[in-house]
Amino acid sequence: MTWVNRYNAKENLQTVTKTKGPWINGKFDARMSGGCNIFGYDTTIWENVKKQDLFMFSTAEYKADQYEELAKLLKYKSLNGVYYSGSSGSDAVETAVRIAFDVNKKNKIVSRQSTWHGGTILSSSLGNHRYFKNYESMYTTNVVRKPMPDNPPYTNLSELVASDLEFLKQQKDVSAFICEPLPTWSHGFKYKFDRPDCYNELKQYCNDNEIVLIFDEVMTGFKTGKRYFTEYLDIEPDLLCLSKGITAGVIPFSTVIGRTDYLEKLQHGHTWSGHYLGVVAAIETVKQVNKWQSNILDMNKQYGHYFDNVLGCFFSTDTKNIRFSDKIIYVYKNITGATVFTLPLNIQKEDFDFLIKEVIIQ
Ligand SMILES: Cc1ncc(COP(=O)(O)O)c(C=O)c1O
Repeated sequence: MTWVNRYNAKENLQTVTKTKGPWINGKFDARMSGGCNIFGYDTTIWENVKKQDLFMFSTAEYKADQYEELAKLLKYKSLNGVYYSGSSGSDAVETAVRIAFDVNKKNKIVSRQSTWHGGTILSSSLGNHRYFKNYESMYTTNVVRKPMPDNPPYTNLSELVASDLEFLKQQKDVSAFICEPLPTWSHGFKYKFDRPDCYNELKQYCNDNEIVLIFDEVMTGFKTGKRYFTEYLDIEPDLLCLSKGITAGVIPFSTVIGRTDYLEKLQHGHTWSGHYLGVVAAIETVKQVNKWQSNILDMNKQYGHYFDNVLGCFFSTDTKNIRFSDKIIYVYKNITGATVFTLPLNIQKEDFDFLIKEVIIQ
């Protein structure tokens, strides 16, 4: 039997020998291992999870106090219900789309072109990111994608959302509008959060037209200096998808939070939905997130002037301002024209100073 890696690139892979802070095998990980390791390679959460003495099980079969405890920790205003969907961002997104259908029995979804919403057929059909172009003929879902420029100038988020609304108004019988409320890696983190009211009109339009508003916070969740980017806004979506940072890389896990009356319509689940160890890791993670948010916001203030866009763990600048370094793991020369650094919430000043010295052209 042969191990097959997805890019068939095993010969380029290294065995992990040493990790500390944001460092892995002597390299500075400015991608947080796929956007998951929000505390870098710190083992605090892992150590706490290991103390659990219950053997594994999932919400498909049993209940435990921790399920309610995590629900309390994740609650935010009208987002008062949580469904522990499974083990990936893709399944959280698919679950949210399915719930939208359960709510309004319509099947057209509007999204933004090029956004990465996942790797399954449905979730990849939503944004149809350029990596998935070969699979277009397999898409069966009724998705209308708003065109997005590959390489826009740095633009205010409110302008993007205003154009989303114009696009949405041209569509009929829409079940759901799905977006990353703050576009991240797929769009070079080029949209600058400028106004808390930027989604108000769009949300009102969705309410008036029975469109379910889905925010995909798989990437932004727990990384913007608040639990959710949504907390910076005047409104909440109907459904919000979380994965990646929710367990800080310790175990695969995902959730959809949202209006309880919507979530209750859901009929299905996965074998791993609500895995007990995922729930325990998420509880530990949210507690640590609350402790470290001020650190990353402090870093935004101290180092923000080196970048074109900054919020929480995300730092982006035009790639012309960046030099290549083989000591840093990051996406350099991205098609968006921007280089994005995604740094742990607990990043320390000496590590940040190293990053600046190594890559920023001054
Ligand atoms: C915004 C967003 N949504 C969904 C996903 C899919 O998550 P997963 O790869 O865990 O299925 C990703 C993954 O990168 C993502 O960035």
